[in-house]
Amino acid sequence: MDWEERARPWIEAETELEELHKNVGIELIQRAPFEPGMNILDIGCGSGSCSIAAANAVGPTGHVTAVDIAPPLARRTSQRTASLQQVEVKTGDAQTLDLGSGTIDLAISQFGVMFFADPKAAFSNINSALRPSGRLLFAAWAGPMDNPWFSGSRKIAEVLLPDLPAAIPTAPGPLSLANSERTIAILHEAGFENVSVETVDLTLDPIGSAADVSKLQFKIGQLAAWIDQSLQDGDDAAELALDCQAKLTKFYSTFETGNGVSIPAKVHFYSAFSRA
Ligand SMILES: C[S@@+](CC[C@H](N)C(=O)[O-])C[C@H]1O[C@@H](n2cnc3c(N)ncnc32)[C@H](O)[C@@H]1O
Repeated sequence: MDWEERARPWIEAETELEELHKNVGIELIQRAPFEPGMNILDIGCGSGSCSIAAANAVGPTGHVTAVDIAPPLARRTSQRTASLQQVEVKTGDAQTLDLGSGTIDLAISQFGVMFFADPKAAFSNINSALRPSGRLLFAAWAGPMDNPWFSGSRKIAEVLLPDLPAAIPTAPGPLSLANSERTIAILHEAGFENVSVETVDLTLDPIGSAADVSKLQFKIGQLAAWIDQSLQDGDDAAELALDCQAKLTKFYSTFETGNGVSIPAKVHFYSAFSRA
Protein backbone atom coordinates (compact mmCIF):
# COMPACT_ATOMS: atom_id res chain seq x y z
CA MET A 1 0.00 0.00 0.00
CA ASP A 2 1.33 3.44 -0.93
CA TRP A 3 0.26 5.32 2.19
CA GLU A 4 1.61 8.66 0.89
CA GLU A 5 -0.78 8.40 -2.07
CA ARG A 6 -3.69 6.90 -0.09
CA ALA A 7 -3.52 9.69 2.52
CA ARG A 8 -3.47 12.57 0.04
CA PRO A 9 -7.26 12.84 -0.49
CA TRP A 10 -7.87 12.36 3.27
CA ILE A 11 -5.61 15.35 4.01
CA GLU A 12 -7.23 17.44 1.27
CA ALA A 13 -10.69 16.63 2.67
CA GLU A 14 -9.72 17.02 6.35
CA THR A 15 -12.41 19.60 7.20
CA GLU A 16 -15.17 17.70 5.38
CA LEU A 17 -14.17 14.38 7.00
CA GLU A 18 -14.06 15.86 10.49
CA GLU A 19 -17.55 17.26 10.00
CA LEU A 20 -18.77 13.95 8.57
CA HIS A 21 -17.45 12.00 11.59
CA LYS A 22 -18.33 14.65 14.18
CA ASN A 23 -21.18 12.70 15.81
CA VAL A 24 -19.04 9.56 15.96
CA GLY A 25 -16.28 11.48 17.75
CA ILE A 26 -18.78 12.87 20.25
CA GLU A 27 -20.02 9.32 21.06
CA LEU A 28 -16.45 7.96 21.35
CA ILE A 29 -15.13 10.77 23.56
CA GLN A 30 -18.25 10.56 25.80
CA ARG A 31 -17.43 6.88 26.47
CA ALA A 32 -13.73 7.47 27.13
CA PRO A 33 -13.02 7.69 30.88
CA PHE A 34 -10.36 10.39 30.46
CA GLU A 35 -8.73 11.75 33.60
CA PRO A 36 -5.91 14.25 34.00
CA GLY A 37 -2.53 12.51 33.97
CA MET A 38 -3.66 9.45 31.98
CA ASN A 39 -1.49 7.75 29.38
CA ILE A 40 -3.50 7.44 26.15
CA LEU A 41 -2.83 5.72 22.82
CA ASP A 42 -4.74 6.88 19.70
CA ILE A 43 -4.54 4.18 17.01
CA GLY A 44 -4.82 5.27 13.37
CA CYS A 45 -4.91 8.90 14.50
CA GLY A 46 -5.39 10.32 10.99
CA SER A 47 -5.15 14.12 11.14
CA GLY A 48 -5.35 13.99 14.92
CA SER A 49 -8.84 15.14 15.96
CA CYS A 50 -9.19 12.44 18.67
CA SER A 51 -5.56 12.87 19.78
CA ILE A 52 -6.23 16.58 20.32
CA ALA A 53 -9.43 15.84 22.30
CA ALA A 54 -7.53 13.26 24.41
CA ALA A 55 -4.59 15.63 24.98
CA ASN A 56 -6.90 18.38 26.20
CA ALA A 57 -8.71 15.93 28.50
CA VAL A 58 -5.58 14.42 30.13
CA GLY A 59 -3.82 17.79 30.34
CA PRO A 60 -0.11 18.57 30.55
CA THR A 61 0.51 15.87 33.20
CA GLY A 62 -0.85 13.21 30.88
CA HIS A 63 0.55 11.71 27.71
CA VAL A 64 -0.94 10.86 24.32
CA THR A 65 0.82 8.60 21.81
CA ALA A 66 -0.76 9.15 18.39
CA VAL A 67 0.06 6.43 15.85
CA ASP A 68 -0.59 6.32 12.13
CA ILE A 69 0.79 4.17 9.35
CA ALA A 70 0.49 6.97 6.77
CA PRO A 71 3.42 9.41 7.06
CA PRO A 72 1.46 12.44 5.73
CA LEU A 73 -1.25 11.94 8.37
CA ALA A 74 1.29 11.47 11.16
CA ARG A 75 3.00 14.67 10.00
CA ARG A 76 -0.34 16.50 10.00
CA THR A 77 -1.08 15.35 13.57
CA SER A 78 2.41 16.52 14.63
CA GLN A 79 1.71 19.90 13.05
CA ARG A 80 -1.68 20.27 14.73
CA THR A 81 -0.41 19.17 18.16
CA ALA A 82 2.86 21.15 18.10
CA SER A 83 1.73 23.28 21.05
CA LEU A 84 0.59 20.26 23.11
CA GLN A 85 3.78 18.97 24.78
CA GLN A 86 1.94 15.88 26.07
CA VAL A 87 1.46 14.51 22.52
CA GLU A 88 4.00 12.20 20.89
CA VAL A 89 3.37 11.09 17.29
CA LYS A 90 4.66 7.77 15.96
CA THR A 91 4.60 6.69 12.31
CA GLY A 92 4.15 2.99 11.68
CA ASP A 93 1.94 -0.07 11.62
CA ALA A 94 0.05 -0.48 14.92
CA GLN A 95 0.12 -4.21 14.23
CA THR A 96 3.87 -4.42 14.84
CA LEU A 97 5.09 -1.12 16.31
CA ASP A 98 6.15 -0.89 19.96
CA LEU A 99 3.16 1.07 21.26
CA GLY A 100 3.96 1.41 24.94
CA SER A 101 4.90 -1.96 26.53
CA GLY A 102 2.43 -2.22 29.38
CA THR A 103 2.16 1.50 30.12
CA ILE A 104 -1.01 2.66 28.37
CA ASP A 105 -4.13 3.32 30.51
CA LEU A 106 -6.53 3.69 27.61
CA ALA A 107 -6.21 2.98 23.88
CA ILE A 108 -8.77 4.69 21.66
CA SER A 109 -9.50 4.62 17.97
CA GLN A 110 -12.03 6.27 15.71
CA PHE A 111 -12.18 4.08 12.59
CA GLY A 112 -8.41 3.38 12.73
CA VAL A 113 -8.40 -0.38 13.52
CA MET A 114 -10.27 -1.89 10.54
CA PHE A 115 -7.34 -1.96 8.12
CA PHE A 116 -5.06 -4.50 9.82
CA ALA A 117 -3.67 -7.33 7.66
CA ASP A 118 -3.86 -9.63 10.71
CA PRO A 119 -6.40 -8.26 13.23
CA LYS A 120 -5.58 -10.86 15.93
CA ALA A 121 -1.86 -9.98 15.80
CA ALA A 122 -2.67 -6.27 15.79
CA PHE A 123 -5.04 -6.41 18.75
CA SER A 124 -2.52 -8.62 20.63
CA ASN A 125 0.11 -5.93 20.06
CA ILE A 126 -2.28 -3.24 21.30
CA ASN A 127 -3.10 -5.43 24.31
CA SER A 128 0.58 -5.72 25.19
CA ALA A 129 0.85 -1.91 25.18
CA LEU A 130 -1.86 -1.62 27.87
CA ARG A 131 -1.13 -1.72 31.59
CA PRO A 132 -2.90 -4.48 33.56
CA SER A 133 -6.68 -3.78 33.45
CA GLY A 134 -6.06 -1.10 30.83
CA ARG A 135 -8.87 -0.46 28.37
CA LEU A 136 -9.32 -0.46 24.61
CA LEU A 137 -12.23 1.56 23.22
CA PHE A 138 -12.85 1.97 19.52
CA ALA A 139 -15.45 2.93 16.93
CA ALA A 140 -15.97 0.71 13.87
CA TRP A 141 -18.73 0.84 11.25
CA ALA A 142 -21.59 -1.65 11.46
CA GLY A 143 -22.70 -3.39 8.24
CA PRO A 144 -23.33 -1.82 4.85
CA MET A 145 -27.11 -2.31 5.08
CA ASP A 146 -27.15 0.12 8.01
CA ASN A 147 -24.64 2.52 6.48
CA PRO A 148 -25.88 4.11 3.25
CA TRP A 149 -22.73 6.25 3.23
CA PHE A 150 -21.02 3.06 1.98
CA SER A 151 -23.81 0.96 0.49
CA GLY A 152 -24.94 3.73 -1.89
CA SER A 153 -21.66 3.80 -3.80
CA ARG A 154 -21.39 0.00 -3.79
CA LYS A 155 -24.90 -0.40 -5.26
CA ILE A 156 -24.16 2.15 -7.98
CA ALA A 157 -20.85 0.42 -8.78
CA GLU A 158 -22.57 -2.97 -9.01
CA VAL A 159 -25.03 -1.60 -11.59
CA LEU A 160 -22.49 0.33 -13.69
CA LEU A 161 -19.54 -2.06 -13.39
CA PRO A 162 -20.80 -5.57 -14.08
CA ASP A 163 -17.34 -7.18 -13.63
CA LEU A 164 -16.81 -5.70 -10.17
CA PRO A 165 -15.31 -8.39 -7.90
CA ALA A 166 -17.59 -9.48 -5.04
CA ALA A 167 -17.06 -7.62 -1.76
CA ILE A 168 -15.21 -9.65 0.92
CA PRO A 169 -16.83 -8.49 4.19
CA THR A 170 -13.83 -9.27 6.43
CA ALA A 171 -11.09 -7.96 4.11
CA PRO A 172 -9.13 -5.03 5.58
CA GLY A 173 -11.26 -1.96 4.97
CA PRO A 174 -13.83 0.28 6.66
CA LEU A 175 -16.43 -2.49 7.14
CA SER A 176 -14.12 -5.33 8.24
CA LEU A 177 -15.19 -5.24 11.92
CA ALA A 178 -18.91 -4.91 11.20
CA ASN A 179 -19.66 -8.44 12.37
CA SER A 180 -19.62 -7.87 16.12
CA GLU A 181 -19.61 -11.58 17.07
CA ARG A 182 -16.50 -12.13 14.97
CA THR A 183 -14.83 -8.97 16.30
CA ILE A 184 -15.54 -9.94 19.91
CA ALA A 185 -14.04 -13.39 19.22
CA ILE A 186 -10.90 -11.76 17.72
CA LEU A 187 -10.55 -9.53 20.79
CA HIS A 188 -10.80 -12.58 23.08
CA GLU A 189 -8.20 -14.41 20.96
CA ALA A 190 -5.97 -11.34 21.32
CA GLY A 191 -6.11 -11.79 25.10
CA PHE A 192 -8.72 -9.20 26.03
CA GLU A 193 -11.43 -9.78 28.65
CA ASN A 194 -14.73 -8.07 29.55
CA VAL A 195 -15.29 -7.45 25.86
CA SER A 196 -18.51 -5.66 24.95
CA VAL A 197 -20.08 -3.71 22.14
CA GLU A 198 -22.65 -0.92 22.05
CA THR A 199 -24.21 -0.33 18.66
CA VAL A 200 -25.39 3.22 18.16
CA ASP A 201 -27.64 4.81 15.55
CA LEU A 202 -26.52 8.29 14.67
CA THR A 203 -26.39 10.60 11.67
CA LEU A 204 -23.55 11.76 9.45
CA ASP A 205 -24.19 15.44 8.77
CA PRO A 206 -21.67 16.36 6.08
CA ILE A 207 -20.95 19.87 4.82
CA GLY A 208 -22.77 21.04 1.70
CA SER A 209 -25.29 19.75 -0.80
CA ALA A 210 -25.88 16.19 -2.06
CA ALA A 211 -23.54 17.03 -4.97
CA ASP A 212 -20.78 18.07 -2.51
CA VAL A 213 -21.29 14.85 -0.54
CA SER A 214 -21.12 12.81 -3.73
CA LYS A 215 -17.82 14.53 -4.63
CA LEU A 216 -16.46 13.76 -1.15
CA GLN A 217 -17.43 10.07 -1.37
CA PHE A 218 -15.92 9.90 -4.84
CA LYS A 219 -12.69 11.48 -3.59
CA ILE A 220 -12.12 9.37 -0.49
CA GLY A 221 -14.16 6.21 -1.15
CA GLN A 222 -13.49 3.21 -3.35
CA LEU A 223 -15.62 4.12 -6.36
CA ALA A 224 -12.75 5.62 -8.39
CA ALA A 225 -10.60 2.52 -7.73
CA TRP A 226 -13.49 0.23 -8.67
CA ILE A 227 -13.89 2.09 -11.97
CA ASP A 228 -10.14 1.74 -12.66
CA GLN A 229 -10.22 -2.01 -11.87
CA SER A 230 -13.28 -2.68 -14.01
CA LEU A 231 -12.43 -0.63 -17.11
CA GLN A 232 -12.76 -2.58 -20.32
CA ASP A 233 -11.64 -1.75 -23.85
CA GLY A 234 -13.75 1.08 -25.19
CA ASP A 235 -14.92 2.28 -21.76
CA ASP A 236 -14.59 5.99 -21.15
CA ALA A 237 -13.31 6.37 -17.57
CA ALA A 238 -14.23 10.05 -17.33
CA GLU A 239 -17.77 9.38 -18.54
CA LEU A 240 -18.19 6.49 -16.08
CA ALA A 241 -16.93 8.69 -13.25
CA LEU A 242 -19.41 11.44 -14.14
CA ASP A 243 -22.25 8.91 -14.38
CA CYS A 244 -21.33 7.44 -10.96
CA GLN A 245 -21.19 10.90 -9.41
CA ALA A 246 -24.56 11.90 -10.87
CA LYS A 247 -26.14 8.71 -9.51
CA LEU A 248 -24.48 9.23 -6.12
CA THR A 249 -25.76 12.80 -5.99
CA LYS A 250 -29.28 11.51 -6.66
CA PHE A 251 -28.83 8.87 -3.93
CA TYR A 252 -27.57 11.35 -1.30
CA SER A 253 -30.30 13.84 -2.23
CA THR A 254 -32.77 11.36 -0.67
CA PHE A 255 -31.15 12.31 2.68
CA GLU A 256 -31.49 16.07 2.18
CA THR A 257 -33.28 17.87 4.99
CA GLY A 258 -34.09 21.55 5.50
CA ASN A 259 -30.71 21.69 7.27
CA GLY A 260 -28.55 19.96 4.68
CA VAL A 261 -27.75 16.30 4.12
CA SER A 262 -28.20 13.97 7.11
CA ILE A 263 -27.30 10.32 6.45
CA PRO A 264 -28.37 7.63 8.94
CA ALA A 265 -25.49 5.50 10.19
CA LYS A 266 -24.82 2.66 12.61
CA VAL A 267 -21.54 2.44 14.48
CA HIS A 268 -20.18 -0.17 16.91
CA PHE A 269 -18.35 1.06 20.00
CA TYR A 270 -16.24 -1.85 21.23
CA SER A 271 -14.76 -1.93 24.72
CA ALA A 272 -12.25 -4.47 26.04
CA PHE A 273 -9.86 -4.75 28.98
CA SER A 274 -6.39 -6.23 29.29
CA ARG A 275 -5.94 -8.85 32.03
CA ALA A 276 -5.53 -7.56 35.60
C1 LIG B 1 -10.64 6.26 8.48
S1 LIG B 1 -9.10 6.93 8.97
C2 LIG B 1 -9.48 7.50 10.62
C3 LIG B 1 -8.54 8.58 11.07
C4 LIG B 1 -8.84 9.22 12.42
N1 LIG B 1 -8.88 8.28 13.51
C5 LIG B 1 -10.15 9.97 12.33
O1 LIG B 1 -11.14 9.52 12.87
O2 LIG B 1 -10.13 11.05 11.71
C6 LIG B 1 -8.14 5.46 9.29
C7 LIG B 1 -6.72 5.77 9.73
O3 LIG B 1 -6.07 4.56 10.15
C8 LIG B 1 -4.74 4.59 9.66
N2 LIG B 1 -4.26 3.20 9.62
C9 LIG B 1 -4.66 2.22 8.79
N3 LIG B 1 -4.01 1.08 9.04
C10 LIG B 1 -3.17 1.33 10.08
C11 LIG B 1 -2.23 0.55 10.78
N4 LIG B 1 -2.03 -0.74 10.47
N5 LIG B 1 -1.53 1.12 11.79
C12 LIG B 1 -1.72 2.44 12.09
N6 LIG B 1 -2.59 3.24 11.44
C13 LIG B 1 -3.32 2.69 10.46
C14 LIG B 1 -4.87 5.26 8.31
O4 LIG B 1 -3.66 5.78 7.82
C15 LIG B 1 -5.89 6.36 8.62
O5 LIG B 1 -5.29 7.54 9.09
